[in-house]
Amino acid sequence: MKGRDLSMNLEGKVCVITGATSGIGEVGAQELARLGARLVLVARDRARGEATLARLRALAPAAAHRVHYADLTRIAEMKRVAAEIAAAEPRIDLLVNNAGALFTARQMTSDGLEMHFAVNHMAYFVITQALRERLVAAGPARVVSTASGAHYGARLDLDDLQFARGYRAFQAYQRSKLYNVMWTREVARRFAGTGVTANCFHPGFVATRYGDRSGGFLSWGVRVAKLFAIPSEKGARTLVYLAASDEVADVTGGYFYKCRQMTPSAAAQDDTAARRLWDETARLAGIG
Ligand SMILES: NC(=O)c1ccc[n+]([C@@H]2O[C@H](COP(=O)([O-])OP(=O)(O)OC[C@H]3O[C@@H](n4cnc5c(N)ncnc54)[C@H](OP(=O)(O)O)[C@@H]3O)[C@@H](O)[C@H]2O)c1
Repeated sequence: MKGRDLSMNLEGKVCVITGATSGIGEVGAQELARLGARLVLVARDRARGEATLARLRALAPAAAHRVHYADLTRIAEMKRVAAEIAAAEPRIDLLVNNAGALFTARQMTSDGLEMHFAVNHMAYFVITQALRERLVAAGPARVVSTASGAHYGARLDLDDLQFARGYRAFQAYQRSKLYNVMWTREVARRFAGTGVTANCFHPGFVATRYGDRSGGFLSWGVRVAKLFAIPSEKGARTLVYLAASDEVADVTGGYFYKCRQMTPSAAAQDDTAARRLWDETARLAGIG
């Protein structure tokens, strides 16, 4: 990967990552493994999980990379997989929340959550909460989350977090990515003094499998737009930077793009709203 900070070294570090079977997460995981990390993947599909694990093992055979399986649409699965990982890993140096998707129609999960809210936001929340003690045990540790520049266009409605009224697919996606930035700032606040930092980033518009399975006109539009997108190698650079660079060792609550801290939208900086989002998410997750 070009532009690497040569001081970056993750030798002996344990890194949990979601959504590493494709796109930004897959390239990011490979780069973290090259830097010496042991990867613990969370994947939903066994064939894709095993194939990703095999590629990681070929690339960096010294570390005992592992994979755990969970469908991150379901709260019980988020909790189960996080408990499984917590039981296996006494210390976690790095957690990368990255799995996400775009859904054309308003779909509900078996928990009754809107799909963007569940996969793109709730899974980040539940897994991070469940692994909190393991991150603190490793301190200094980092939580890095894939947000998006799409959050700038989101309109926050605290009375309709799951877009029950007037659903528009891309707007629902934008809102979920706004939640990522708000939530990151709130994690930073709540984890202050523990040695655990939390930052999020926009990867750019990246030619991944993003949107391929969303269906409808939107999927077609995203496919065409992706002809002009950057490769995953470029999209993963800020993920790796936030995970490994000494430059950001003490930075927390930040939103980054192209390895630079940026000012997120005004809504993303509304910390009162972020607390309400946190409380409502915790309530829905059944986490005190
Ligand atoms: N591509 C872009 O331009 C762009 C821009 C800004 C932000 N992002 C964000 O980047 C992140 C990664 O997306 P990508 O672009 O790399 O897309 P991608 O190629 O579609 O990868 C998405 C990853 O998330 C996993 N995933 C999706 N739903 C899941 C579920 N229910 N349970 C468990 N895993 C699930 C996928 O697993 P499978 O392999 O099994 O499908 C895959 O590993 C997302 O958070 C996305 O919102 C992307």
